[in-house]
Amino acid sequence: MVVTPNALHFVTPLSLQTLSQNKVYTDPFQILENVDVEHIALAEWADALVVAPATANIIGKFAHGIADDALSTLFLACSKPVFLAPAMNTKMLHHPAVQQNIHTLRQRGCLILESGAGYLACGTTGDGRMQEPEQLCDAVMQALTRPALFTGKKVLITAGPTYEPIDPVRFIGNFSSGLMGFRLAETFASLGADVTLVTGPTHLTTALPNIHRINVQTAAQMLEACQKEFPSAHIAVMAAAVADYTPTNVAPEKIKKSAKTLQISLQKTTDILATLCKQKTKNQCVVGFALETEHELENAKAKLKNKKADIIVLNSLRNEGAGFQHATNLVTLIDKNGNVQTGELKDKSEVAEDIVRYIADYLKITK
Ligand code: CTP
Repeated sequence: MVVTPNALHFVTPLSLQTLSQNKVYTDPFQILENVDVEHIALAEWADALVVAPATANIIGKFAHGIADDALSTLFLACSKPVFLAPAMNTKMLHHPAVQQNIHTLRQRGCLILESGAGYLACGTTGDGRMQEPEQLCDAVMQALTRPALFTGKKVLITAGPTYEPIDPVRFIGNFSSGLMGFRLAETFASLGADVTLVTGPTHLTTALPNIHRINVQTAAQMLEACQKEFPSAHIAVMAAAVADYTPTNVAPEKIKKSAKTLQISLQKTTDILATLCKQKTKNQCVVGFALETEHELENAKAKLKNKKADIIVLNSLRNEGAGFQHATNLVTLIDKNGNVQTGELKDKSEVAEDIVRYIADYLKITK
């Protein structure tokens, strides 16, 4: 266990040593002075380096190769998987310098255990709260021991609703929670895939290091993010509830209440699923969703054909407990080879497993 000088403001080495029953390192010289160059030994002994919480300061040092304390020295000597759980004040987390440093470390192979929103040490509430230690442990263990079914595969997933602004304070949205897309992202990631999750506004969080989350708000932003990520993806799963229409003009100021009725002119958004299907090469597989309230199978089959998707996941809102705002779902999977498979009402994590296994079978991925 290694602690930084800043961590010593919060906790003493003796408490940590007593509670964890492990030796606590605090000083790079304590490490370097050791006869067997112990920082190298420590780096070799560990299966992984987990930095939790990872402050803006340590992230900055790691990104720039500064070794002025025990932890940053160990980081440079460590060739094992490195997990970082960023935790800091919201403004610090969103600062371009910190975001750039996280991006740099991610590109160098560090695995980011993304923070969520919640109560922060500085007394405010917002993004930057570290995941609970148990969640971090699970994520690290999963990443270190995950089965390899999708190892080497890049998966692009969309999730959640989109918000289409009307004026600076209002938007057109929908009731999607994003849960199905997040569960799919976690399932793919736990099976070894490198996942990019493009999500509309949602309070959901993910801790798995091989999920790269991109937050968007509008259908246009989701399209732009997907266009950028799709060329390198092997599989794309479009689980987002994308707005079909967006206001033609966004009012620059808040629309004041005046006449009895108000008309907002809307224009069609670009269909992201159909766009990606048009661009897809023979090595790419695109999976769409169909949310229906009537003539479900017929409509879903039409979507599969018209949008040229490989697989459509049909959700009927007529099935109690399925679709939006539920922890459970019931889906029918339809593929372009004419196969149709209807599942049962299950927890969305289990439904995600079924969908992912179906995709693996469709693509004949067996390793
Ligand atoms: N979709 C998309 N881009 C849009 C609208 C929908 O990528 N602008 C995707 C969804 O993510 C989903 C699929 O298209 O994978 C089907 O979405 P759905 O709302 O069921 O159907 P629509 O195509 O929007 O048609 P309709 O609303 O008329 O049923």
